[in-house]
Amino acid sequence: MALLDSEVSCNDDELDVAGATLQCSDMLGDNQVVSEVTLEELEIEEPPVDETEAAKKEAGISRLMAGYAQHLQQRSAYHLGYPLNLDYDFSLLAPFLNFSLNNAGDPFAKVNNSVHSRQFEVAVLHWFANFWEAQRDQYWGYITSGGTEGNLYGLLVGRELFPDGILYASCDSHYSVFKAAKMYRVKCIKIASTISGEMNYADLKSRLLQNTNSPAIINANIGTTFKGAVDDIDQIISTLEKCGFQNRYYIHCDGALSGMMMPFMKQAAKVSFKKPIGSISVSGHKFMGCPMPCGVVITRLEHTKVLSTDIEYIASKDSTITGSRNGHAPIFLWYTLSKKGYKGLLKEVQICLGNARYLELLLKQVGISASCTLLSNIVVFERPKDEKFVCRWQLACEGNLAHIVVMPNVTFEKITIFVEELAEKRRDWHQDKGFNIPCLAIDIGKENCYCNLHAKKLRIPKM
Ligand SMILES: Cc1ncc(COP(=O)(O)O)c(C=O)c1O
Repeated sequence: MALLDSEVSCNDDELDVAGATLQCSDMLGDNQVVSEVTLEELEIEEPPVDETEAAKKEAGISRLMAGYAQHLQQRSAYHLGYPLNLDYDFSLLAPFLNFSLNNAGDPFAKVNNSVHSRQFEVAVLHWFANFWEAQRDQYWGYITSGGTEGNLYGLLVGRELFPDGILYASCDSHYSVFKAAKMYRVKCIKIASTISGEMNYADLKSRLLQNTNSPAIINANIGTTFKGAVDDIDQIISTLEKCGFQNRYYIHCDGALSGMMMPFMKQAAKVSFKKPIGSISVSGHKFMGCPMPCGVVITRLEHTKVLSTDIEYIASKDSTITGSRNGHAPIFLWYTLSKKGYKGLLKEVQICLGNARYLELLLKQVGISASCTLLSNIVVFERPKDEKFVCRWQLACEGNLAHIVVMPNVTFEKITIFVEELAEKRRDWHQDKGFNIPCLAIDIGKENCYCNLHAKKLRIPKM
């Protein structure tokens, strides 16, 4: 185990560069040496034949694993930029790691083997069907490998129902949506977005009117990746109908992060199968929190006929994108939903929205351009000048902006420490490099921009 005293490396591809020691506040569990393994140490070698050497090697592996776990724990404390809820304790579920749980095939079909967790999967699916207001006997779904697979599935259903359909998705859609268009060779039209990241419905209308001969497959964002903007399903439906697309459209709702949060927000438009939508997907490792990537996709039972084939070998139906499917994820999701319930999840949503608002205000108070839309727990702000700082806090950046996704583990205290540190560093960057505060008016609106031109007209918000 290498104990090095250098700057933190940005990602795991750089494990061979250096280990890391971080000097941070005690609150984040720092001021301890955190060791990081190097790539050379990970070179896989045959176990020694000699018993003493083999025992030494075993002990070395244990030390390495313990050190790496410590490293991950420390880095997790500085994880702000990606939508992962890291606030969980799944130790009770550790025994399940000793079983090969594979839910291959249709979760509702009877199968030959017994080492699976379909009972848990179906219970989780029922929960989500209820959550998004689908009738129990009229929906179908499965636990996916993540939001990407949910999008690939939902958009495939749309494509199969309307093989000559055109896919419409706003520029702010996740890249998996455009990947689906490429994979399925579907013509895709990118719709403009507003500054907040929401679909521009006037642009949608004009594009639909240019293509009235082809059915429409719409990707509606229930929370865009970067700004957390929510497309208005009601507006999309009324635009489609006004443009003459009655019964010739399919709407897939990409709710990777916020599909789990929206039903808990009173002000939000309902994401519901009572509306003419075709499918909804969500990531399980995002708001809910799960150590392995996973997700849920729900569609209407009537739509699944287009995608289901009987397979003798698995004694089941092949109706999912992947073959083998993670059988652990349903247990983790079931456990989380059962422990938290609606009440617990509602509380977490409220705390995250409040903390996101706090972060936005705190950034503005120290003169940093920032914005957070009403229904979102994502705060976008001026991209920090120093990549080391970006890496240290694991911020996600795009162009002039960085963002923080305020998840349950991103606490009030952590936000305060982050902003204090950013403000201090920014003062140094300012002095050292003659740094000009960038204008972010076109990225987040002049009402959120604290550049020299726009700041004069803005008041520093009060808490
Ligand atoms: C809006 C949106 N859709 C889809 C995805 C993909 O989800 P996953 O990473 O679970 O595949 C993401 C991931 O960030 C996302 O933000």
